[in-house]
Amino acid sequence: MVKICAVITEIKNNKKEGRRSLSKFIISHTPSLKGTVRISGSKNSALPILAASLLADGESTIEEIPNLKDVQCMYELLRWLGSDVEVLHNNRVRISTPKFKKHIAPYELVSKMRASFLVMGPLLARVGKTRISLPGGCAIGTRPVDLHLKGFAAMGAKITQGHGYVEAKAKKLKGAKIYLDFPSVGATENILMAACLAEGQTVIENAAVEPEIVDLANYLIGMGADVKGAGTDTIKVNGVKELKGTTHTVIPDRIEAGTFMAAAAITKSKIKIENVVPDHLKPVTAKMREIGIDIEENDTSIIINANGKLKSADIKTLPFPGFPTDMQAQFTALMSIVEGTSIIIETIFENRFMHVSELKRMGANIKIEGRSAVIEGVKKLTGAQVKATDLRAGAALVLAGLAAEGETEISNVEHVDRGYDGFEQKMVSLGAQIKRIEDDED
Ligand code: EPZ
Repeated sequence: MVKICAVITEIKNNKKEGRRSLSKFIISHTPSLKGTVRISGSKNSALPILAASLLADGESTIEEIPNLKDVQCMYELLRWLGSDVEVLHNNRVRISTPKFKKHIAPYELVSKMRASFLVMGPLLARVGKTRISLPGGCAIGTRPVDLHLKGFAAMGAKITQGHGYVEAKAKKLKGAKIYLDFPSVGATENILMAACLAEGQTVIENAAVEPEIVDLANYLIGMGADVKGAGTDTIKVNGVKELKGTTHTVIPDRIEAGTFMAAAAITKSKIKIENVVPDHLKPVTAKMREIGIDIEENDTSIIINANGKLKSADIKTLPFPGFPTDMQAQFTALMSIVEGTSIIIETIFENRFMHVSELKRMGANIKIEGRSAVIEGVKKLTGAQVKATDLRAGAALVLAGLAAEGETEISNVEHVDRGYDGFEQKMVSLGAQIKRIEDDED
């Protein structure tokens, strides 16, 4: 335990220099947006890929890495563990981990970002042991990791839990057949990474099929892993002796793209969105067309034209290729000013409606009934002081602020900085009336 305390003291000292700034957005009514916006690399692809770089002692160069707080947290954790992380210009990073300094992922780092838990698979596979803080819950739910641990145990890891940490040991992981009770994105990623260096074959059944899983698998295959079936619900991995560094370009962020689609919709605008994979946006594009928005799909861009009257619609969030939970808050904001009744059912997380009380402060008429939000469209929203409670809720409030009459002040926008690279700059480039103000606090 002494070691952990030393670890925590070291991190706390590093933090003293930094001053936490409480950023706010001030948004004025924006009659419409116009122009073109380029989407950054996917946060939810970059984070597991950065964790996967631990599997090789050689150097990887990852391109299209978005400049996000969560990515910086991952760099901090990788450096903590012993990686050389060199951030290069134009969204590239060079990483190598010839040897590990530590195999512990402390609470101070893991609690800042839940995706830190994704280093568990690579550490188990490469070092054979790890002591990692349980990520704990966050605003949108308890976010357990039981499926991750079940997979590692099936591969022969000895797992113990206590004092908020999970400890795992495995001389050499053995391939296993693992059925995921729920197609968890994180559990699929963590087990997939561990399986690459295990002895024998691992079969992950009821695996997540999100595009970010395919992107991670492509990076692993580039490192020399033997992975088949990524993107389907059954992934087969034949373990290999070692992996090498490689070069990989992260896929575009489908949720950032969807967020800008919703921004065009809520301001009845026509904009072009570049650097997208239309196939990754299918459930969002289908829903947008259902409510009356015109969408033109090209190879790597889409043009969205929301100049007509919109119709209400129902939405149910589901694992890919269903409607993404990460777009639920943005659509709740959009549907709050669409005439008629729209019902949104959130099936993935148990507490992902915190943006609703903030939208109601702006005049939205929404009733929460368990996992459902019943929205009665209102003619207009009015600007108010609101706060971001999580990453996508913050984005949803920005969209509402664009459409609302008057001025909206959003506090705690550091949540938005976690997952959107240059959000307000991109919005301003489209004509949005948005500016950031910083309140320093000790
Ligand atoms: C990933 O989280 C994303 N984060 C989330 O994006 C996204 O909302 C989520 O997948 C679903 O698509 C990253 O990729 C970094 P899950 P993850 O494991 O892996 C339950 C954003 O806004 N579950 O698929 O944590 C869990 O409680 C973020 O960018 C277990 O029960 O999601 C939840 O109800 C938010 N046991 C459901 O599965 C487990 O062991 C989905 O979780 C793991 C998960």
